[in-house]
Amino acid sequence: MEEIKAEDLEPEKFVKEKIEEISAIVGSNSAINALSGGVDSSTVTMLGHKAFGDRLKTYFIENGLMREGEPEQVVSLFEKLGVKVEIVDAQKQFFNALKGMADPEEKREAITQTFYREVFGKLVRESGAKYLLQGTILTDVEETVAGIKRQHNILEQLGIDPEREFGYKIIEPLIPLRKDGVRKVAEVLGLPASVYNRAPFPGPALAARVIGEVTPERIAVVRKATAIVEEEFKDTGAFQSMAILHEDRVTGMRGGKREYGMQIEIRSWESKDARTATPTRLSYDILDRLSERITTEVPGVVSVTYNITKKPPSTMEVV
Ligand code: XMP
Repeated sequence: MEEIKAEDLEPEKFVKEKIEEISAIVGSNSAINALSGGVDSSTVTMLGHKAFGDRLKTYFIENGLMREGEPEQVVSLFEKLGVKVEIVDAQKQFFNALKGMADPEEKREAITQTFYREVFGKLVRESGAKYLLQGTILTDVEETVAGIKRQHNILEQLGIDPEREFGYKIIEPLIPLRKDGVRKVAEVLGLPASVYNRAPFPGPALAARVIGEVTPERIAVVRKATAIVEEEFKDTGAFQSMAILHEDRVTGMRGGKREYGMQIEIRSWESKDARTATPTRLSYDILDRLSERITTEVPGVVSVTYNITKKPPSTMEVV
């Protein structure tokens, strides 16, 4: 796939060409897509609605792994933009698939299978759609193909034929772009700055930020810590900042008593395209406030650390 660099991208022309291209593929058939509210899926949703109007059905998959208030916020924002989004409650399926699983790549594979086979397989059968439109970008493909991380949305590049495996075809109009290019396209499609400037969030959602088993209880811990981190980092301009729940517990103390508690690691990244990244140079005041808030507002957490490693050798998400 030929890369289109952000500096060479002509976003209006790109939109026009992609609308023609995807319209030619879908013809008079219908398509569906999943909107998570991130930059990539929001962009592909707007592009698809410009191309197909009501022949594109957009779903928000409530996998139980999203951030605080996210399903409602995304649905209401797109409603204002004239796009109807249906919420599909798939929490049980995702948590069942992740039960007892600790290995990072096994967890990613379980999420992929639940998403494409169980949830989308059913939606496709019910809606009669032949195509799934999705916002895969070049960086997702590269990291998966290089064997670094199995990105949840990569199939064909790994030799998986979605039509044979799941019964539908996948269209990926954003694949020549990286995040900086997608932001430009999002802007010309009329998405608000809160969307096109939004920090990236991974497809496997908070499951990418839990080391070890993903359970509703452990997701609740990381979700609360994430809300605090995102609130405190709101104005720092970081590319992405996150809270991670560790598997190991450590001995802490609270109210004069021993508490064998959980550990939260904070990461904040400066990056242009997510291929390489450096940690944000935070002031000690911010670090202090984060540790104070997380240990008092998130029950059971007795340790907060800040990661100072660059990517590489780190990756940005922990799983
Ligand atoms: P890593 O952790 O690979 O992350 O350094 C690079 C960027 O990609 C995001 N990320 C994902 N995005 N599906 C996605 O759509 C995924 O499975 C996935 N894993 C990581 C991550 O948040 C960062 O911006």
